[in-house]
Amino acid sequence: MNEQKDTWILGLTRGHNAGVCLLKNGKIVFCTEEERYTRKKYDGAPYRSIIEVLKYTDKLDAVGFAHTQPARVGSGEDSRTEFTGENVYAGLLRKLGLIENTTYDVDIADEHPQITDYGMEHHKLHAFTAFSKSDFDEAAILIVDGAGSFLPIKDGIGPNGGKNTIGWEVETIFKGNKEAKNPIITKFKCLGSRDPIISSTFESEATGFMRREGLNDHKAYLNDHAGTVKIYEAVTEFCGWQAIEAGKTMGLSPYGKPNDKIDPLYMDKQSKYWPTSNRNIVVPNYPNGAFINQNLIKDYADVNVAEGKYHYDHQLAKDLAYAVQTETQEQMLEMIIKASEMCDSKNVVISGGYGLNCVANYFYLDKLNELGIKLYVEPISNDAGTAIGAALFAHLEHTEKFIDLDKNIYLGQTYNYTTDDMDKVCNLYEAKIKDASKEDIVKLIKDRNIVTIFQGGCENGPRALGNRSILYDPTDPNGKDHVNKIKKREYFRPFAGTILKEHVHEWFDLKGMEDTPHMMYAVNCQPGIEDKIPSIIHVDGTCRIQTVTEEENANYYNLIKEWYKQTDCPIIFNTSFNLGGEPLVETLDDAVRTLANSDIEYLYLPEYGKLIKVDNK
Ligand SMILES: [Fe+2]
Repeated sequence: MNEQKDTWILGLTRGHNAGVCLLKNGKIVFCTEEERYTRKKYDGAPYRSIIEVLKYTDKLDAVGFAHTQPARVGSGEDSRTEFTGENVYAGLLRKLGLIENTTYDVDIADEHPQITDYGMEHHKLHAFTAFSKSDFDEAAILIVDGAGSFLPIKDGIGPNGGKNTIGWEVETIFKGNKEAKNPIITKFKCLGSRDPIISSTFESEATGFMRREGLNDHKAYLNDHAGTVKIYEAVTEFCGWQAIEAGKTMGLSPYGKPNDKIDPLYMDKQSKYWPTSNRNIVVPNYPNGAFINQNLIKDYADVNVAEGKYHYDHQLAKDLAYAVQTETQEQMLEMIIKASEMCDSKNVVISGGYGLNCVANYFYLDKLNELGIKLYVEPISNDAGTAIGAALFAHLEHTEKFIDLDKNIYLGQTYNYTTDDMDKVCNLYEAKIKDASKEDIVKLIKDRNIVTIFQGGCENGPRALGNRSILYDPTDPNGKDHVNKIKKREYFRPFAGTILKEHVHEWFDLKGMEDTPHMMYAVNCQPGIEDKIPSIIHVDGTCRIQTVTEEENANYYNLIKEWYKQTDCPIIFNTSFNLGGEPLVETLDDAVRTLANSDIEYLYLPEYGKLIKVDNK
């Protein structure tokens, strides 16, 4: 018999939102983020995730590294493994037997034959993931994030293209074609510079750092202003959060109002090159974050950045949040249209951190519908998605095949707990376990209990979609305050909901979209709906809604269907199963511990027909 050998390819990303993606014969069999195992939000360096790969295979054919810089730069000399001088990830993979035990020479330690380092192509990895999952055969792909790869480029000042400098990937447009030998080709890059650039409208040839592409085949615009995500980061840090927590700023924005003391955040909005920040308001600090210029706050005696007295509850912070949301989404719309024109395509794919801006994603739709442009926004737009991109890129280089992925995102590890396993976890946290049906669960939620649900593999990306979710009654007028308090989150943060797909158009205006299975849009309600589900309607009247079908998630769908039968409401309140500041729960132990550490009492395990209860003290 001629047995076909399986092909195993791993993508891993090393920076914040570190994680791995494992492909078996071109299909994802395991994809996770390091934080889910280590319980440290946004954790870097996916050591633990690499170890979990051993549960699926003991050999890899190829490995792709993702980050914003090559491992030999990012790891530094001090963090190489002792004696062999390998970078730590190659060392770990070798020691676990996942890659061949090559004899090392320190000078070629980064050149393991099975590893390809895509650290110089951060944006392209976002593009691989998003384009592969889109339904488009060809598209313009727009990547917008804070600071991607650190790229060598000439600054254009003086002879021979100027002096060498570093440009951080800020925004990139790629042209995608699934049939082509090089399916993703760079068309344009806006690069940020840390050094002052004399002429901010300088346009340069890029210097040929792209694998599989010809040299100098696209334009790069190098400048020392902040890009769109950096502008968002500046406001987010001003509010008192980490730069990476832009979602909180988005939630705060409708609490702000136009404030004429805040100048426009963008310089020369009609730039023929590309929109970047007004440096009088936002100063970038590549690669890490950005600052609000202190001149802005001189009129506010009670705001003292030096003493950390700025805070999201100050009206200036709310007004800045309002300004940054409204201005960045307008500029994004311009970029989408430019991308469509530049690639001569009516299909546009978005990824990179700004893709998670579900308010903006909805905002674009009116204009894009008018222009006949179709949009796909990648749900794993954060850097965790680059692990998938690295696996896809490595697969392409290993097999010359571009993979068309499906949209399933329940790709974390699945667990098969025995009765003994469940009893052990319950004993640990003084929990009780009993049989329960979906009817029992609906009754609990109708009685305004918070019930968590745990099943299958964990969701990839930041949104819980019914496998690790906290569920509640969306009709409770006090639901938002109640659950925010229990989750230990800021008072203003909105909650999402899940609706049976067949009812979505009666309740929400999807502006021509058929469904929203990954909660990527904060949408308007149909008239008269807001008052029916007050706990999941934000202050601006929108709701971040997930549609679900039986095919996508049978247990979750059937639970909501039972809820609908008993309440006439086809929507359930859904928020991620974690407490504020913690990652999504991964294991049953994490789930029951979360109950024990909070006022949440119930955990539903639909695959086992069980309900776990931890009594409130
Ligand atoms: Fe990124």
